Amino acid sequence: MTDLALKIDNIIAGYGDTIVLNGISFDVHKGERLAIIGRNGVGKTTLLATIMGLTNLHSGSIELNAKPIINLPTHMRAKEGLGSAPQTRDIFPSLSVEENLISGIRGDASLEEAYELFPRLKERRSNGGGTLSGGEQQMLAIARTLLGKPDVLLLDEPLEGLAPVICEMLMDVFEQIAKTGSQTVVLVEQHTGLAVEFADRVIILDGGEIVHAGSSQELIENPGVLERHVGVGLMEAN
Ligand SMILES: Nc1ncnc2c1ncn2[C@@H]1O[C@H](COP(=O)(O)OP(=O)(O)O)[C@@H](O)[C@H]1O
Ligand SMILES: [Mg+2]
Repeated sequence: MTDLALKIDNIIAGYGDTIVLNGISFDVHKGERLAIIGRNGVGKTTLLATIMGLTNLHSGSIELNAKPIINLPTHMRAKEGLGSAPQTRDIFPSLSVEENLISGIRGDASLEEAYELFPRLKERRSNGGGTLSGGEQQMLAIARTLLGKPDVLLLDEPLEGLAPVICEMLMDVFEQIAKTGSQTVVLVEQHTGLAVEFADRVIILDGGEIVHAGSSQELIENPGVLERHVGVGLMEAN
């Protein structure tokens, strides 16, 4: 038995022959909140895409709930418990909000769970996905992913381009989801301060490698680490 939700061991991955991730290893415990931060272009999205099986993995291993998944196609990884809300906010623009949500339901999940977390989506349930604001589209993408009842939720820059009030609302929702203690969350964010505040542990990526890994408390006490690797302090990063 193990309490690891994800175990990433020495992965080398990229696109075609191009290597983007150069020997990444880390674990995520069940119920843990891990933030992955770093400047633009350092490989954050590629890392999440690699976990989902969407890149070219040259070597290394990935285990989900102690089971190797690198030979599984993406949809099987989802079935095994990985839920991903990608940076591209993949929703169906021609389907209604409700139809989008229904398309994500797995097992005994119900629409009401999504509407409870995001009342705004209930108000807009019959509107087309393509007519939503950026913030609403992000809510829909996240709600749909959650209805898949993932063991591990992968969030790729969910706050990107959103107004501060929407960012706060989304962070509140992540807090609600995570505080149950049973939802493992991997949050990639450029809003460094909010990510560090949310997370138990933080990994900093640079140039496709992990340049720092430690508790969020440690980063709060040593903001110089952030300035060195991400180029910003904690306060200005929000
Ligand atoms: N589909 C792709 N094909 C080739 N190179 C890519 C592709 N997507 C991203 N890259 C390259 O991989 C590197 C890491 O990108 P990415 O993972 O998107 O970084 P981040 O999410 O940290 O901003 C960048 O140099 C980027 O140009
Ligand atoms: Mg990215």
